[in-house]
Amino acid sequence: MNLLITGGAGFIGSHFIVDALKKNHSIVALDNFSTSNKDILVKIKEASGKDFIFYEADISDKSKLREIFSTNEIDLVVHFASLKSVTESVFNPILYYRNNVGGSLILLETMQEMGVKKIIFSSSASVYGSSHLSPISEECSLNPISPYAQSKVIIEKILNDMTTCKHDFKALNLRYFNPVGCHESFLIGESSKKEPSNLFPIICEIANGKKSHLSIFGNDYDTHDGTPVRDYIHISDLISGHISAIDWLNSSKKNISSINLGTGSGYSVLEIVNVFNSFLDRPIQYEYSPRRPGDSGIVFANNSLAKSELKWSSTQSLEKMCKDSWIWHSKD
Ligand code: NAD
Ligand code: UD1
Repeated sequence: MNLLITGGAGFIGSHFIVDALKKNHSIVALDNFSTSNKDILVKIKEASGKDFIFYEADISDKSKLREIFSTNEIDLVVHFASLKSVTESVFNPILYYRNNVGGSLILLETMQEMGVKKIIFSSSASVYGSSHLSPISEECSLNPISPYAQSKVIIEKILNDMTTCKHDFKALNLRYFNPVGCHESFLIGESSKKEPSNLFPIICEIANGKKSHLSIFGNDYDTHDGTPVRDYIHISDLISGHISAIDWLNSSKKNISSINLGTGSGYSVLEIVNVFNSFLDRPIQYEYSPRRPGDSGIVFANNSLAKSELKWSSTQSLEKMCKDSWIWHSKD
């Protein structure tokens, strides 16, 4: 298919482009490089052995989007472009609503104008909030507790409304749990311009001496070791879910709007630290600190819808997730 990828220079977008090119999809990608670096473009070509069209563009720039849609044939949009820091969104909600919601509206308006009727949207497990018992299924209520998560809920609702009122419009929200790891080529991985705030990149920064120790946010949760449990998913598994979602969107007649992408298994912070320690030369130093506001004790996915609809399941072990993350970050 002819795919337009927004946020194609980012962590997930870049991995998606490599695998989509390998599957012989034609790729047009755009990014404004607000959180990513231009050198990723060469790496994507190297890792895939293929070429693609790229525009430096913002999803809020309607005239540029019109140019992109009218110059290239596009069958489906995979929409990764977004700001994604929960903490930053709490300090600057307008930025998040303008960039994520405002930008998506302009993208959707232009798609409508140009007759493009299929979209896969990067949503997040954060739409569920912190009150559900895991495993969390797609039927659970949405209780976003940050402007970032709320921006995802709003875009999901806009897409649901569009599919309801226009019967030939098809959209699928993929709700990611915690993506980690890097591409099998080790040419691309997570490399944001921003300070890392997620567990895996922070552990890797401690391992390569950039940080002294890990603050574990809480050891008084109702989990087997008191530290919070999450559903970490290897980036290669997350991407294979997207490749399956393209086929699903083309063939399924079912009225399903959102699908979880998680492994269905949860691991605690201490378990993650122990896996890293099993192959690192020096153990990760850590101390316990208070709970991070907005965190839950246990979050992992019910992924039965992904299994039954997308014919997808995760394949990569926790050890591989930790090792790949470390190999990628140790190159810094
Ligand atoms: P990322 O920050 O690495 O990539 C996002 C890309 O979008 C960046 O290259 C950035 O420059 C670009 N971008 C942002 N605003 C833009 C705009 N207005 N116009 C054009 N480009 C713009 O993030 P990622 O980890 O690759 O995440 C991709 C998507 O997945 C995002 O929508 C994110 O919210 C969602 N998501 C990510 C995670 C995760 O842990 N990585 C978890 C759940 C959901
Ligand atoms: C966070 C976001 C979520 C987003 C996801 C991926 C919050 C509340 N949630 O999820 O919306 O979709 O990232 O970008 O920010 N931890 C520590 N010490 C650290 C860092 C993390 O103990 O220095 C713990 C956290 O408490 C958590 C686990 O490690 O229990 C994973 O944290 P993180 O990688 O930030 O992901 P989430 O909080 O699950």
